[in-house]
Amino acid sequence: MPGLLFGGDYNPEQWPEEVWAEDVRLMAEAGVTMVTVAVFAWSRLEPRPGEHDFAWLDRVLDLLHAHGVAADLATATATPPPWLVRDHPSVMPVTADGVRLEFGSRQGYCPSSPVYREHAVRLARTMATRYGRHPALRMWHVGNEYADHTLECFCEESARHFRRWLAARHGSVEALNAAWGTSCWGQHYTDFEQVAPPRRAPGPVNPGQLLDWRRFCSDALLELFEAERDVLREVTPRVPVTTNFMSILHGLDYWKWAEAEDVVSDDAYPDPADPSSHVAVALSYDLMRSLKRRPWLLLESAPSAVSWREVNVPKPPGVMRLHSLQAVARGSDGAMFFQWRQARYGPEKFHSALLPHGGERTRGWRETLRLGRDLRALAEVAGSHSPGEVALLLDWESWWGLEAPESMPSNRLRLKELMLAWYAPLHARGILVDLAPPGRDLSGYRVVIAPNLYLCTEETAKELARFAGQLVVGPFSGVVDARDQVHPGGAPGPLCELLGVAVEEFWPLPDGRVQRTTLGAARTWAEWIRLEGAEPVARYEGGDLDGRPAITRRGEVTYLSCLLDDVTPVLDDVLTRAGVAGLDVPPGVEAVRRGGHLFLLNHTTEPRRVALPWPGFDLLTRKPMRDHVELPARDAVVLRIEGSRGRTK
Ligand code: GAL
Repeated sequence: MPGLLFGGDYNPEQWPEEVWAEDVRLMAEAGVTMVTVAVFAWSRLEPRPGEHDFAWLDRVLDLLHAHGVAADLATATATPPPWLVRDHPSVMPVTADGVRLEFGSRQGYCPSSPVYREHAVRLARTMATRYGRHPALRMWHVGNEYADHTLECFCEESARHFRRWLAARHGSVEALNAAWGTSCWGQHYTDFEQVAPPRRAPGPVNPGQLLDWRRFCSDALLELFEAERDVLREVTPRVPVTTNFMSILHGLDYWKWAEAEDVVSDDAYPDPADPSSHVAVALSYDLMRSLKRRPWLLLESAPSAVSWREVNVPKPPGVMRLHSLQAVARGSDGAMFFQWRQARYGPEKFHSALLPHGGERTRGWRETLRLGRDLRALAEVAGSHSPGEVALLLDWESWWGLEAPESMPSNRLRLKELMLAWYAPLHARGILVDLAPPGRDLSGYRVVIAPNLYLCTEETAKELARFAGQLVVGPFSGVVDARDQVHPGGAPGPLCELLGVAVEEFWPLPDGRVQRTTLGAARTWAEWIRLEGAEPVARYEGGDLDGRPAITRRGEVTYLSCLLDDVTPVLDDVLTRAGVAGLDVPPGVEAVRRGGHLFLLNHTTEPRRVALPWPGFDLLTRKPMRDHVELPARDAVVLRIEGSRGRTK
């Protein structure tokens, strides 16, 4: 579809049919181009086994099409209906304590249930066959936010599935014993049948088992997605398939998931109560852009308040628009919302919507109309893609190992926080950051930062050694291999030669303790390291580590053995060496280049004067601009940079 997409989740099954006519009239008025339909509609589409009621959805899709609105049509499998659960109680997931969960919410399925899978795939085929040629159909929406409520299940069926997965990964029970280190604490298995999911046990569970469980849970849900996707591709090979991601989600390895779908889509809910939430959400948008290195789609966001936090703060005037433009700046080909019409009942009756309870007289509706107009004005931005200058490494397996629930030197190391420590100052400098998995070609970047690589294989170490630009490695890296076993000789294992240091001892800091270094204060983590070819850049000051090296450099490689409160001195040095300049913008103003356009977004509540690096034409006000711009509070300009074509790839 040309231009940027605008719309949201549409749940007509929650409304009497008279309301639908008003829905489509108002959608047309607001310039809505696509809505997501039937996500939780299984129990209405198949009220009894094998008995379908599609008439209402036929009418909805016809009505949408007649008003120029396309459908991101769900296969409707996100919540199995009551009859399926009552006929087959094994469909419901079981907790680590052995409690089988009840019906009455959503996502009530065990990822390994063959019964759920069979019925879901059958429904997907029925949907594809019935609607594959419907002119409103633009995209398939499989499931919904996999792992939102149901990431794992500990039932016997899941145990069997886990054993099959383990047999395929390890080959033999002896190999599994070796990988999990079962000689420890007397866990040696003699048969796969003895192995179970990591259910509640008397003490800490084997970390090798936990790491494989995390891999398995991501894969088990992916299998479910792929089973539906395969049917859709068979019946409607030309209709793209997506499933909505949940930003940077611990449970699912999105590098793998993105390969399995045609379009990356994301749901993002930055907290309006947190004045810095636009930075963390930018990081997740950059992940979405990096997954396929192509434009993606913001498929859900909140027009104003959500209903699932302890306190649900609304978005003040202008913020819905600003946040939507931010997603577009970072590669989204549209802005979609949860949801179109605000519900009157159910758990989301207080969640905001494009059309609030109060209807057309509300400020919410006025903001919806304004955003629709602005997205139309930005149509030429759609389809363009800019690669980043700096890459941040993100490896899910390493993340899972790092954040194991117990038995670590410190459980204060949280990967998202470690990433944000580097990302925030890059964001403030308007430097576009890509995320990259181990194994991706890094040669296009001038700077690569690995905030943490707790799990680092020999292959990853070799790839990093081949990278010719500035490399920065954060603490507690190169500790274990893919089995979660400490590398021979200890950290940084295969990175030892590259970094030119050996870590003799981890020195985690108690909560609140500050460890000074010559480059600023460190908290949470430090290490006793020995130089093995690297030069010290900074030393610890005071305390037990006084005078020992804290930050080191060998050639183009910088290593930090601690967590600095502020990484700016290290970052600025590395950026200067790499010749990466960034953009000069005042605090709270986000600058992003996308193709031939420059987005300037003022996230503050004050006006900001911004010097323009290039003259251009503001697509929002339709005015030429040069030298500088006065950005009102919570406002934006989108500059078509002079000399660049509207649509640059
Ligand atoms: C998402 C979900 C939607 C809706 C929304 C509310 O997690 O996919 O169905 O519940 O949250 O914020």
